[in-house]
Amino acid sequence: MACRLLFGACQMEYSITHEEFHRFRTLIYNESGIALSEQKQSLLASRLSKRLRDLGLETFSEYYDHVMSDPSREEFTRMLDLISTNKTDFFRESKHFDYLRDRILPELEQEKRIRIWSSACSTGEEPYTIAITLFESVKNPAQWDFKILASDLSTRVLAKAAAGTYDEDRFRGVPPEVVRRHFLRGRGVRTGLFKAKPHLAATIQFRRLNLMDERFPIKTPLDLIFCRNVMIYFDRPTQERLVNKFYRYLKPGGYLFTGHSESLQWVDHPFKAWAPTIYRKEC
Ligand SMILES: C[S@@+](CC[C@H](N)C(=O)[O-])C[C@H]1O[C@@H](n2cnc3c(N)ncnc32)[C@H](O)[C@@H]1O
Repeated sequence: MACRLLFGACQMEYSITHEEFHRFRTLIYNESGIALSEQKQSLLASRLSKRLRDLGLETFSEYYDHVMSDPSREEFTRMLDLISTNKTDFFRESKHFDYLRDRILPELEQEKRIRIWSSACSTGEEPYTIAITLFESVKNPAQWDFKILASDLSTRVLAKAAAGTYDEDRFRGVPPEVVRRHFLRGRGVRTGLFKAKPHLAATIQFRRLNLMDERFPIKTPLDLIFCRNVMIYFDRPTQERLVNKFYRYLKPGGYLFTGHSESLQWVDHPFKAWAPTIYRKEC
């Protein structure tokens, strides 16, 4: 163990052997698609050291055995949360929500029905933003049939998403009247917290899904899939398999939105590149 000074206090960091790193790397890749480069060895050690300490373990091999011996996969999820980022925001990369409002919803005006999948939803800001956009954009939301499936690999972030409660400062940049229309302001001990109103919560179904799965439990063809800021962690063959799977779950004319830094330029796929980071299945 090496000692690293953090705010003047000595934090013990466990050292990881090359062989141990490779075992973790293979496990993480096989289970989640996240591809860690060789350069990530010390990052992995520093991110997981506290967990080893909390569990009273002495080596990364012991921790590997601990992860593998947990049939619920909870420890694997916890480990993944420590090494990956769940960063998200309300109205992140807001052009996608403008496009939904200005182009996609008008196309569905006759049907008044939309099915959307937020496929790596983290703590829920993305699916709640989608729901807000739907309610704010159409003339008479009560006449529409909105459904959003929101999924993630991590049960920890999904629990937060399903609770639908956020600190006030998470809404920075969102007009206060919009927040007021869709969130309930907490009182007493809940002052400073905002909870999604029932109309918003009823629109979203949360579910743990792994994007690496061969099939997804989705029966109705989708109008739109959000897969943003997760493909960046996958290598090209994994991105290719995933994007081709998404294609099968979309309606003809359906859309795929990727993160603003996730171009599919180098990936072999059947979509039509429609606008920057917006892809469309041909009608
Ligand atoms: C950076 S967040 C993106 C959140 C949101 N889409 C956004 O753009 O703001 C990435 C999320 O991908 C999830 N993730 C990573 N690998 C995954 C997988 N194989 N299947 C499903 N979700 C995964 C992580 O748990 C994390 O919550």
